[in-house]
Amino acid sequence: MLSRRTVALGLAAAPLAACGSNEAYRDAVTATWRLIDPDGPGFPARALVHAATLAANSHNTQPWRFVVAGQTIGIQPDYARRTPVVDPDDHHLFASLGCAAETLLQAAPHYGWQGQIESFDARRGARLIFERVARPEAALAPAIPRRASTRGEYDGQPAPVAVLRALERAGQGTVDTVLVTDRRRLEQATEFIVRGNTAQVQSPAFRRELKAWIRFDGAEAARRRDGLYAASSGNPTLPRALGALAFDLAFTEKGETKKIVSQMRSSAGLAVFSAATNDPRGWLEAGRAYTRFALMAEIAGLRTAFLNQPVEDAPTRGPFAAWLGTSGRRPDLVVRFGQGPGLPRSLRRPVRDVLSA
Ligand SMILES: Cc1cc2nc3c(=O)[nH]c(=O)nc-3n(C[C@H](O)[C@H](O)[C@H](O)COP(=O)(O)O)c2cc1C
Repeated sequence: MLSRRTVALGLAAAPLAACGSNEAYRDAVTATWRLIDPDGPGFPARALVHAATLAANSHNTQPWRFVVAGQTIGIQPDYARRTPVVDPDDHHLFASLGCAAETLLQAAPHYGWQGQIESFDARRGARLIFERVARPEAALAPAIPRRASTRGEYDGQPAPVAVLRALERAGQGTVDTVLVTDRRRLEQATEFIVRGNTAQVQSPAFRRELKAWIRFDGAEAARRRDGLYAASSGNPTLPRALGALAFDLAFTEKGETKKIVSQMRSSAGLAVFSAATNDPRGWLEAGRAYTRFALMAEIAGLRTAFLNQPVEDAPTRGPFAAWLGTSGRRPDLVVRFGQGPGLPRSLRRPVRDVLSA
Protein backbone atom coordinates (compact mmCIF):
# COMPACT_ATOMS: atom_id res chain seq x y z
CA MET A 1 0.00 0.00 0.00
CA LEU A 2 1.17 3.54 -0.70
CA SER A 3 2.16 5.57 2.32
CA ARG A 4 1.59 9.30 2.85
CA ARG A 5 5.29 9.71 1.98
CA THR A 6 4.80 8.07 -1.43
CA VAL A 7 1.96 10.50 -2.07
CA ALA A 8 4.26 13.38 -1.16
CA LEU A 9 6.91 12.10 -3.62
CA GLY A 10 4.23 11.78 -6.26
CA LEU A 11 3.22 15.38 -5.62
CA ALA A 12 6.81 16.51 -6.09
CA ALA A 13 7.21 14.56 -9.37
CA ALA A 14 3.89 15.68 -10.78
CA PRO A 15 4.94 18.95 -12.46
CA LEU A 16 7.51 17.08 -14.64
CA ALA A 17 5.03 14.39 -15.69
CA ALA A 18 2.40 16.99 -16.41
CA CYS A 19 4.39 19.00 -19.02
CA GLY A 20 2.86 17.37 -22.14
CA SER A 21 -0.60 17.34 -20.65
CA ASN A 22 -0.32 21.04 -19.83
CA GLU A 23 -0.06 21.85 -23.51
CA ALA A 24 -3.23 19.90 -24.37
CA TYR A 25 -4.98 21.53 -21.42
CA ARG A 26 -3.82 25.03 -22.43
CA ASP A 27 -4.99 24.51 -26.03
CA ALA A 28 -8.37 23.32 -24.78
CA VAL A 29 -8.69 26.39 -22.51
CA THR A 30 -7.96 28.71 -25.45
CA ALA A 31 -10.50 26.94 -27.67
CA THR A 32 -13.14 26.93 -24.91
CA TRP A 33 -13.13 30.31 -23.19
CA ARG A 34 -14.20 32.71 -25.94
CA LEU A 35 -17.27 33.75 -27.88
CA ILE A 36 -16.72 32.13 -31.27
CA ASP A 37 -17.46 33.67 -34.68
CA PRO A 38 -20.74 32.75 -36.35
CA ASP A 39 -20.59 30.33 -39.32
CA GLY A 40 -22.27 32.78 -41.71
CA PRO A 41 -24.79 35.64 -41.95
CA GLY A 42 -27.80 33.57 -40.74
CA PHE A 43 -28.92 32.48 -37.27
CA PRO A 44 -25.66 31.90 -35.30
CA ALA A 45 -26.80 28.61 -33.75
CA ARG A 46 -23.37 27.02 -33.29
CA ALA A 47 -21.90 30.18 -31.73
CA LEU A 48 -24.87 30.46 -29.36
CA VAL A 49 -24.63 26.80 -28.31
CA HIS A 50 -20.89 27.24 -27.72
CA ALA A 51 -21.65 30.23 -25.47
CA ALA A 52 -24.29 28.24 -23.58
CA THR A 53 -21.79 25.47 -22.82
CA LEU A 54 -19.68 28.02 -20.92
CA ALA A 55 -22.38 28.21 -18.24
CA ALA A 56 -21.78 27.07 -14.68
CA ASN A 57 -23.11 23.57 -14.04
CA SER A 58 -23.04 21.17 -11.15
CA HIS A 59 -19.80 19.08 -10.95
CA ASN A 60 -19.20 20.26 -14.54
CA THR A 61 -21.09 17.18 -15.77
CA GLN A 62 -22.63 19.41 -18.48
CA PRO A 63 -26.01 17.65 -18.20
CA TRP A 64 -27.42 19.12 -21.40
CA ARG A 65 -28.24 18.43 -25.04
CA PHE A 66 -29.01 21.22 -27.52
CA VAL A 67 -31.47 20.91 -30.40
CA VAL A 68 -31.53 23.58 -33.12
CA ALA A 69 -34.66 24.01 -35.27
CA GLY A 70 -35.05 27.16 -37.36
CA GLN A 71 -34.52 30.11 -35.05
CA THR A 72 -35.12 28.09 -31.89
CA ILE A 73 -32.73 26.25 -29.60
CA GLY A 74 -33.89 23.53 -27.21
CA ILE A 75 -31.90 22.84 -24.03
CA GLN A 76 -32.76 19.34 -22.88
CA PRO A 77 -31.74 17.46 -19.74
CA ASP A 78 -29.13 14.72 -20.27
CA TYR A 79 -30.07 12.28 -17.54
CA ALA A 80 -27.00 10.16 -18.28
CA ARG A 81 -25.06 12.98 -16.59
CA ARG A 82 -27.05 13.13 -13.36
CA THR A 83 -25.30 13.17 -9.98
CA PRO A 84 -27.84 11.18 -7.94
CA VAL A 85 -26.01 11.40 -4.60
CA VAL A 86 -25.45 15.16 -4.32
CA ASP A 87 -28.56 15.92 -6.38
CA PRO A 88 -31.20 13.21 -5.84
CA ASP A 89 -34.15 15.28 -7.13
CA ASP A 90 -32.31 16.78 -10.16
CA HIS A 91 -32.53 20.25 -8.61
CA HIS A 92 -28.96 21.09 -9.66
CA LEU A 93 -29.48 19.53 -13.07
CA PHE A 94 -32.34 21.94 -13.82
CA ALA A 95 -30.46 24.86 -12.23
CA SER A 96 -27.58 24.02 -14.60
CA LEU A 97 -29.99 24.09 -17.56
CA GLY A 98 -31.10 27.52 -16.30
CA CYS A 99 -27.47 28.68 -16.27
CA ALA A 100 -27.10 27.49 -19.88
CA ALA A 101 -30.38 29.16 -20.94
CA GLU A 102 -29.47 32.51 -19.39
CA THR A 103 -25.93 32.41 -20.78
CA LEU A 104 -27.39 31.78 -24.23
CA LEU A 105 -29.89 34.64 -23.84
CA GLN A 106 -27.12 37.02 -22.68
CA ALA A 107 -24.86 35.93 -25.58
CA ALA A 108 -27.52 36.51 -28.27
CA PRO A 109 -27.21 40.35 -28.44
CA HIS A 110 -23.46 39.98 -29.02
CA TYR A 111 -24.45 38.40 -32.37
CA GLY A 112 -27.30 40.87 -33.07
CA TRP A 113 -30.10 38.61 -31.85
CA GLN A 114 -32.50 38.59 -28.93
CA GLY A 115 -34.17 35.58 -27.38
CA GLN A 116 -36.72 34.47 -24.84
CA ILE A 117 -37.93 31.23 -23.31
CA GLU A 118 -40.82 30.03 -25.47
CA SER A 119 -41.73 26.90 -23.50
CA PHE A 120 -40.54 24.66 -20.70
CA ASP A 121 -41.39 21.23 -19.41
CA ALA A 122 -39.48 18.93 -17.12
CA ARG A 123 -39.10 16.14 -19.71
CA ARG A 124 -37.96 18.18 -22.70
CA GLY A 125 -36.38 21.15 -20.92
CA ALA A 126 -36.51 24.72 -22.26
CA ARG A 127 -37.10 25.92 -25.81
CA LEU A 128 -35.69 29.36 -26.65
CA ILE A 129 -36.84 31.43 -29.61
CA PHE A 130 -34.79 34.21 -31.23
CA GLU A 131 -35.29 37.22 -33.49
CA ARG A 132 -32.86 39.61 -35.08
CA VAL A 133 -32.64 43.07 -33.45
CA ALA A 134 -31.41 46.38 -34.86
CA ARG A 135 -29.76 47.79 -31.72
CA PRO A 136 -28.78 44.89 -29.49
CA GLU A 137 -27.70 45.54 -25.90
CA ALA A 138 -25.00 43.08 -25.00
CA ALA A 139 -24.10 44.43 -21.56
CA LEU A 140 -23.27 41.09 -19.91
CA ALA A 141 -22.00 39.14 -22.97
CA PRO A 142 -18.31 40.16 -22.57
CA ALA A 143 -18.33 38.53 -19.13
CA ILE A 144 -19.43 35.11 -20.45
CA PRO A 145 -15.92 33.82 -21.31
CA ARG A 146 -14.48 35.39 -18.15
CA ARG A 147 -16.99 34.02 -15.59
CA ALA A 148 -15.58 31.18 -13.52
CA SER A 149 -16.12 29.44 -10.21
CA THR A 150 -13.07 30.75 -8.37
CA ARG A 151 -12.64 28.60 -5.28
CA GLY A 152 -9.57 30.27 -3.80
CA GLU A 153 -9.35 32.87 -1.07
CA TYR A 154 -10.38 36.46 -1.79
CA ASP A 155 -8.93 39.65 -0.29
CA GLY A 156 -11.47 40.19 2.52
CA GLN A 157 -12.39 43.69 1.29
CA PRO A 158 -16.06 44.75 1.24
CA ALA A 159 -17.73 45.43 -2.12
CA PRO A 160 -18.87 49.04 -2.77
CA VAL A 161 -22.57 49.67 -2.02
CA ALA A 162 -23.31 50.61 -5.65
CA VAL A 163 -21.88 47.26 -6.78
CA LEU A 164 -23.96 45.39 -4.19
CA ARG A 165 -27.12 47.13 -5.46
CA ALA A 166 -26.24 46.22 -9.08
CA LEU A 167 -25.65 42.59 -8.05
CA GLU A 168 -28.95 42.48 -6.20
CA ARG A 169 -30.80 43.88 -9.23
CA ALA A 170 -29.10 41.40 -11.59
CA GLY A 171 -30.23 38.48 -9.44
CA GLN A 172 -33.85 39.58 -9.08
CA GLY A 173 -36.83 38.54 -11.19
CA THR A 174 -39.11 35.84 -9.87
CA VAL A 175 -36.17 34.70 -7.73
CA ASP A 176 -35.37 36.20 -4.31
CA THR A 177 -31.73 37.20 -4.13
CA VAL A 178 -30.55 37.84 -0.58
CA LEU A 179 -27.11 39.35 -0.11
CA VAL A 180 -25.41 38.73 3.23
CA THR A 181 -22.52 41.08 3.98
CA ASP A 182 -22.74 41.58 7.74
CA ARG A 183 -19.76 39.77 9.36
CA ARG A 184 -21.85 38.27 12.17
CA ARG A 185 -24.40 36.90 9.69
CA LEU A 186 -21.58 35.59 7.47
CA GLU A 187 -20.14 33.66 10.44
CA GLN A 188 -23.60 32.16 11.05
CA ALA A 189 -23.88 31.21 7.37
CA THR A 190 -20.44 29.57 7.62
CA GLU A 191 -21.77 27.31 10.39
CA PHE A 192 -24.54 26.05 8.07
CA ILE A 193 -22.07 25.51 5.23
CA VAL A 194 -19.76 23.55 7.53
CA ARG A 195 -22.70 21.51 8.87
CA GLY A 196 -23.80 20.50 5.36
CA ASN A 197 -20.23 19.89 4.28
CA THR A 198 -19.45 17.66 7.27
CA ALA A 199 -22.41 15.42 6.40
CA GLN A 200 -21.11 15.18 2.82
CA VAL A 201 -17.48 14.46 3.79
CA GLN A 202 -18.70 11.67 6.06
CA SER A 203 -20.84 10.08 3.32
CA PRO A 204 -19.00 7.30 1.39
CA ALA A 205 -21.50 7.66 -1.50
CA PHE A 206 -20.91 11.42 -1.74
CA ARG A 207 -17.13 10.91 -1.70
CA ARG A 208 -17.36 8.22 -4.40
CA GLU A 209 -19.49 10.38 -6.69
CA LEU A 210 -17.33 13.48 -6.21
CA LYS A 211 -14.11 11.53 -6.81
CA ALA A 212 -15.51 10.08 -10.05
CA TRP A 213 -16.02 13.61 -11.41
CA ILE A 214 -12.60 14.98 -10.40
CA ARG A 215 -10.10 15.27 -13.26
CA PHE A 216 -6.82 14.91 -11.41
CA ASP A 217 -4.41 16.16 -14.08
CA GLY A 218 -4.38 18.33 -17.19
CA ALA A 219 -4.21 15.33 -19.54
CA GLU A 220 -7.33 13.77 -18.04
CA ALA A 221 -9.12 17.14 -18.03
CA ALA A 222 -8.20 17.81 -21.69
CA ARG A 223 -9.22 14.29 -22.77
CA ARG A 224 -12.58 14.26 -21.00
CA ARG A 225 -13.39 17.99 -21.25
CA ASP A 226 -15.80 17.70 -18.31
CA GLY A 227 -15.67 17.22 -14.54
CA LEU A 228 -13.84 19.11 -11.83
CA TYR A 229 -10.24 19.82 -12.80
CA ALA A 230 -8.21 19.57 -9.56
CA ALA A 231 -6.24 22.77 -10.27
CA SER A 232 -9.50 24.74 -10.67
CA SER A 233 -10.13 24.09 -6.99
CA GLY A 234 -6.60 25.12 -6.06
CA ASN A 235 -5.44 21.51 -5.63
CA PRO A 236 -2.22 19.95 -6.99
CA THR A 237 -2.48 17.96 -10.23
CA LEU A 238 -1.53 14.28 -10.17
CA PRO A 239 -1.97 11.16 -12.29
CA ARG A 240 -5.39 9.63 -11.54
CA ALA A 241 -4.24 6.77 -9.28
CA LEU A 242 -2.16 9.07 -7.08
CA GLY A 243 -4.76 11.82 -7.17
CA ALA A 244 -7.46 9.44 -6.01
CA LEU A 245 -5.27 8.34 -3.13
CA ALA A 246 -4.41 11.93 -2.21
CA PHE A 247 -8.15 12.73 -2.28
CA ASP A 248 -8.91 9.87 0.14
CA LEU A 249 -6.27 11.19 2.54
CA ALA A 250 -6.84 14.93 2.18
CA PHE A 251 -10.64 15.20 1.89
CA THR A 252 -11.30 15.29 5.63
CA GLU A 253 -13.83 17.04 7.85
CA LYS A 254 -11.08 19.04 9.58
CA GLY A 255 -9.33 20.10 6.37
CA GLU A 256 -12.54 21.07 4.56
CA THR A 257 -13.87 22.99 7.58
CA LYS A 258 -10.66 24.99 7.77
CA LYS A 259 -10.85 25.75 4.07
CA ILE A 260 -14.50 26.86 4.22
CA VAL A 261 -13.89 29.12 7.22
CA SER A 262 -10.98 30.91 5.54
CA GLN A 263 -12.80 31.13 2.20
CA MET A 264 -15.82 32.71 3.92
CA ARG A 265 -13.72 35.10 6.03
CA SER A 266 -11.93 36.24 2.85
CA SER A 267 -15.20 36.93 0.99
CA ALA A 268 -17.03 40.25 0.67
CA GLY A 269 -20.37 38.51 0.99
CA LEU A 270 -22.72 35.67 0.20
CA ALA A 271 -25.68 35.59 -2.18
CA VAL A 272 -28.54 33.14 -1.68
CA PHE A 273 -31.03 32.56 -4.51
CA SER A 274 -34.52 31.21 -3.72
CA ALA A 275 -36.97 30.61 -6.57
CA ALA A 276 -40.73 31.22 -6.32
CA THR A 277 -41.53 27.54 -6.85
CA ASN A 278 -39.81 24.38 -5.66
CA ASP A 279 -40.01 22.53 -8.99
CA PRO A 280 -37.92 22.14 -12.18
CA ARG A 281 -39.15 25.49 -13.57
CA GLY A 282 -38.24 27.27 -10.32
CA TRP A 283 -34.83 25.57 -10.24
CA LEU A 284 -34.24 26.68 -13.83
CA GLU A 285 -35.07 30.26 -12.82
CA ALA A 286 -32.64 30.06 -9.88
CA GLY A 287 -29.86 29.09 -12.32
CA ARG A 288 -30.83 32.02 -14.55
CA ALA A 289 -30.73 34.50 -11.65
CA TYR A 290 -27.33 33.18 -10.47
CA THR A 291 -25.99 33.57 -14.02
CA ARG A 292 -27.01 37.23 -14.34
CA PHE A 293 -25.53 37.82 -10.88
CA ALA A 294 -22.23 36.08 -11.72
CA LEU A 295 -21.86 37.90 -15.05
CA MET A 296 -22.55 41.24 -13.35
CA ALA A 297 -20.03 40.35 -10.61
CA GLU A 298 -17.43 39.60 -13.27
CA ILE A 299 -18.06 43.01 -14.91
CA ALA A 300 -17.61 44.62 -11.47
CA GLY A 301 -14.28 42.81 -10.99
CA LEU A 302 -15.56 40.32 -8.42
CA ARG A 303 -14.98 36.56 -8.30
CA THR A 304 -17.73 34.13 -7.37
CA ALA A 305 -17.84 30.54 -6.07
CA PHE A 306 -20.68 28.27 -4.97
CA LEU A 307 -20.86 26.89 -1.44
CA ASN A 308 -24.07 24.90 -1.82
CA GLN A 309 -23.58 22.47 1.05
CA PRO A 310 -26.43 23.91 3.21
CA VAL A 311 -28.95 23.49 0.38
CA GLU A 312 -27.62 20.11 -0.78
CA ASP A 313 -27.73 18.41 2.62
CA ALA A 314 -31.47 17.95 3.24
CA PRO A 315 -31.31 18.01 7.09
CA THR A 316 -29.38 21.34 6.96
CA ARG A 317 -31.64 22.95 4.32
CA GLY A 318 -34.69 23.59 6.58
CA PRO A 319 -32.77 25.28 9.42
CA PHE A 320 -30.77 27.27 6.83
CA ALA A 321 -34.02 28.47 5.17
CA ALA A 322 -35.43 29.47 8.57
CA TRP A 323 -32.23 31.40 9.40
CA LEU A 324 -32.34 33.13 6.01
CA GLY A 325 -36.02 34.03 6.43
CA THR A 326 -37.14 33.25 2.87
CA SER A 327 -40.80 32.87 3.91
CA GLY A 328 -41.38 29.29 2.87
CA ARG A 329 -39.15 29.29 -0.22
CA ARG A 330 -36.49 26.62 -0.72
CA PRO A 331 -33.04 28.24 -0.86
CA ASP A 332 -31.65 27.02 -4.20
CA LEU A 333 -28.10 28.29 -4.61
CA VAL A 334 -25.45 29.77 -2.31
CA VAL A 335 -22.61 31.82 -3.80
CA ARG A 336 -19.80 33.78 -2.16
CA PHE A 337 -18.15 36.74 -3.86
CA GLY A 338 -15.13 39.01 -3.48
CA GLN A 339 -11.95 40.21 -5.14
CA GLY A 340 -9.08 37.82 -5.59
CA PRO A 341 -6.73 36.02 -7.97
CA GLY A 342 -8.04 33.63 -10.64
CA LEU A 343 -7.37 29.90 -10.84
CA PRO A 344 -6.87 27.53 -13.82
CA ARG A 345 -10.08 27.24 -15.84
CA SER A 346 -12.38 24.25 -16.11
CA LEU A 347 -13.08 22.80 -19.57
CA ARG A 348 -16.17 22.03 -21.69
CA ARG A 349 -17.05 19.42 -24.28
CA PRO A 350 -17.12 20.82 -27.84
CA VAL A 351 -20.41 21.81 -29.52
CA ARG A 352 -20.45 18.67 -31.72
CA ASP A 353 -20.66 16.50 -28.57
CA VAL A 354 -23.71 18.27 -27.13
CA LEU A 355 -25.73 19.01 -30.28
CA SER A 356 -28.54 16.58 -31.11
CA ALA A 357 -29.51 16.20 -34.76
C1 LIG B 1 -26.41 24.08 -9.65
C2 LIG B 1 -24.95 24.20 -9.37
C3 LIG B 1 -24.41 23.76 -8.17
C4 LIG B 1 -23.04 23.89 -7.91
N1 LIG B 1 -22.55 23.55 -6.67
C5 LIG B 1 -21.25 23.78 -6.39
C6 LIG B 1 -20.74 23.61 -5.05
O1 LIG B 1 -21.48 23.31 -4.12
N2 LIG B 1 -19.42 23.84 -4.83
C7 LIG B 1 -18.58 24.23 -5.83
O2 LIG B 1 -17.39 24.42 -5.58
N3 LIG B 1 -19.04 24.46 -7.09
C8 LIG B 1 -20.34 24.24 -7.38
N4 LIG B 1 -20.83 24.53 -8.63
C9 LIG B 1 -19.91 25.06 -9.65
C10 LIG B 1 -19.53 24.03 -10.69
O3 LIG B 1 -18.71 23.02 -10.14
C11 LIG B 1 -18.85 24.76 -11.84
O4 LIG B 1 -19.78 25.62 -12.45
C12 LIG B 1 -18.28 23.81 -12.88
O5 LIG B 1 -17.26 23.02 -12.32
C13 LIG B 1 -17.72 24.56 -14.08
O6 LIG B 1 -16.75 25.49 -13.68
P1 LIG B 1 -16.89 27.04 -13.96
O7 LIG B 1 -18.07 27.53 -13.18
O8 LIG B 1 -15.59 27.62 -13.47
O9 LIG B 1 -17.08 27.24 -15.42
C14 LIG B 1 -22.19 24.42 -8.91
C15 LIG B 1 -22.74 24.85 -10.12
C16 LIG B 1 -24.10 24.77 -10.34
C17 LIG B 1 -24.68 25.32 -11.62
